[in-house]
Amino acid sequence: MTHKIAVLPGDGIGPEIIEQAVRVLKALDVSFDVKEEPVGGAAFDRYEHPLPPATLKLAQESQATLFGAVGDWKYDSLPREFRPEQAILGLRRSLGLFANLRPAILYPELANASSLKPEVVSGLDILIIRELTGDIYFGQPRGQRSAPDGAFAGEREGYDTMRYAESEVRRIARVGFEAARKRNKRLCSVDKANVLETSQFWRDIVIDVSREFPDVTLSHMYVDNAAMQLVRAPREFDVIVTGNIFGDILSDEAAMLTGSIGMLPSASLNSSNQGLYEPSHGSAPDIAGKGVANPLATILSAAMMLRYSLDLAGQADRIEAAVRRVLSEGLRTADIYEPGTTKVGTAQMGDAVIKALAA
Ligand code: IPM
Ligand code: MN
Repeated sequence: MTHKIAVLPGDGIGPEIIEQAVRVLKALDVSFDVKEEPVGGAAFDRYEHPLPPATLKLAQESQATLFGAVGDWKYDSLPREFRPEQAILGLRRSLGLFANLRPAILYPELANASSLKPEVVSGLDILIIRELTGDIYFGQPRGQRSAPDGAFAGEREGYDTMRYAESEVRRIARVGFEAARKRNKRLCSVDKANVLETSQFWRDIVIDVSREFPDVTLSHMYVDNAAMQLVRAPREFDVIVTGNIFGDILSDEAAMLTGSIGMLPSASLNSSNQGLYEPSHGSAPDIAGKGVANPLATILSAAMMLRYSLDLAGQADRIEAAVRRVLSEGLRTADIYEPGTTKVGTAQMGDAVIKALAA
């Protein structure tokens, strides 16, 4: 069976890290049909749109999309609809990728990379599940206008709408409970129910869904407290489930706990396990084209793709084991380098993972 994969390298370091991930995939004894299209700023430069029809079509027709990164300061002055970020938002919405899985794992070999004390973070392994197609990101109405009423009537105002429908909360809650069931059976739902109606509604639905999962212990936390607990005692968490905006913020915080955002993959899934896989980090235009970027987050994203969209968990395990092996051999890209280890570039890191796959 041939697996149809869309490859969207994007901007900045996107193309160089994607190249290594594709090489790793091709080193497996699995048959892939890999097709590539531009996305983000690269697509804007060629087609005057960050998500051209051919790119969207390719992603829609593929079982999985491997996505590099988008964005560059040079597109910052474009109208919002043409900015590179619109590509990822458009893909999420068009493919219905509502479930975003963002693991934050501290690899024992990289224990010193964290800015937190080793006794606080060693062994950290948490999974943030972020709802990705609802909330204030997509809620209508939104816009800028002259304020119709209230204390600021007549002044210009900007506004967005936070909202969640019941089915949206139910389906992401189920993803959270199911993930917790396969791990340490603890799910923490993060909201702001002390202030927001949307959050009170979210909490009520999550509690209702919890009746289907009596084996999972559910807790609730306000988002401000969750931000604090993540730096105070991050290992208290197992799986976190939260809405789009809170998940955006908390997942960056959680990634930084590990000190090595260049290591963290992510998956965005729809209800038929069609998925988009991308590193948690951005396009890092400052180091683009220099061959120094860490390709491991993208390689690990390819592993998630094998596990979640292609039902090839054994192959995913192989890649993850190969990554651990190169780390234990002391190979490090610049972002995770420390004295006593061996500094390597992007392609050398790819070579090492491929070699470790065969070992
Ligand atoms: C992310 C990013 C995106 C988001 C941006 C680029 C639109 O920050 O994937 O977390 O806010 O979701
Ligand atoms: Mn973000």
